Amino acid sequence: MTMKIIGTGSCCGDHLVTNQDLAQIVETSDEWISSRTGIRSRRLTTGLGTSGMAAKAAERALKDGNVHPEELDLILLATSTPENHFPNGACEVQAAIGAVNAAAFDISAACTGFVFALQTAYGFMAAGGYKKILVIGADDLSKVTDWTDRKTCILFGDGAGAVVVEKEEKGMFSGVMKADGSRGQVLSCRARSGGNFLTGKKPEIGYIYMDGQEVFKFAVKKVPECVEQLLKEQDVQKEDIRYYILHQANERIIDSVAKRLKEPIEKFPMDIQDHGNTSAASIPILLDEMNREGRLTRGDKLILAGFGGGLTWGAALMEW
Ligand code: UT7
Repeated sequence: MTMKIIGTGSCCGDHLVTNQDLAQIVETSDEWISSRTGIRSRRLTTGLGTSGMAAKAAERALKDGNVHPEELDLILLATSTPENHFPNGACEVQAAIGAVNAAAFDISAACTGFVFALQTAYGFMAAGGYKKILVIGADDLSKVTDWTDRKTCILFGDGAGAVVVEKEEKGMFSGVMKADGSRGQVLSCRARSGGNFLTGKKPEIGYIYMDGQEVFKFAVKKVPECVEQLLKEQDVQKEDIRYYILHQANERIIDSVAKRLKEPIEKFPMDIQDHGNTSAASIPILLDEMNREGRLTRGDKLILAGFGGGLTWGAALMEW
């Protein structure tokens, strides 16, 4: 048994924010941001939020795959910026698109969320009973960004990407998932917390904290390691991989991973210049753009790889 992506969709924030716009609010410049990260602009959501963007991306993926919402058995939403503690965001998507036969729940693994969700979908299919699953990565990081912190606020964008996966007999799907909770503090964002019965204190919102250099070092070491592990386990050669679709966090991280894998940079598509780091959404947004531009051919072998808060990281190998 294996699974295939049969439809893709995406939805990005409605409000364009350039590096020059950010230079108006923190001490930075277009030159600094673009040379250190590859980012030139990002789109922030001012209305839809996580679930709204996720639902729009989902509708587009269903249309692309010619799938009726009632055919879905399960909705998995990878996000670390849900609107609510409950109902979960996947249930909000289910209601918005009318997927009345689908179970729905969220997966939290920060920027690795989509890669984990895809492997979760595969696990459900392999266990039986699930044939069509909607897998979404969506994040609205702008609501937890400290807009006075130039070390983080220049990096992120908002968006959602979705795929419909279907159970298949032919093809290929496998993956690896990793976590190191002992290093969680290098990239963190507290949940709304601090509410206290005794003092009457109300809960406060948390903001993103990041030790950029530590995250950088972690990513360029762990991503190639887990890609190599996956290729070895599946006995697939690097020459057979058409594209490495990496989490879009920083152009220099992607360059460095390509070098460590000794693979040409042309095999590493990027759209970070227009979106910034959209966390769990970055991989499915890029997949959707490539699909719509006709850059993917059935049978292409793809590696999808993510890394982020947790710390978490992982990769999936699949045939388009
Ligand atoms: O999804 C995973 C999420 N996170 C990541 O992938 C982040 C990984 N890390 C990175 O991408 C990089 O570490 C950053 C882009 C965040 C930072 O680049 P860096 O080359 O590691 O810069 P740095 O933190 O070492 O800072 C260098 C200098 C410092 O000034 P001093 O101390 O040398 O005077 C910073 O204060 O650059 C300064 N700086 C800035 N200057 C202008 C930091 N942020 C900015 C800024 N504009 N926005």
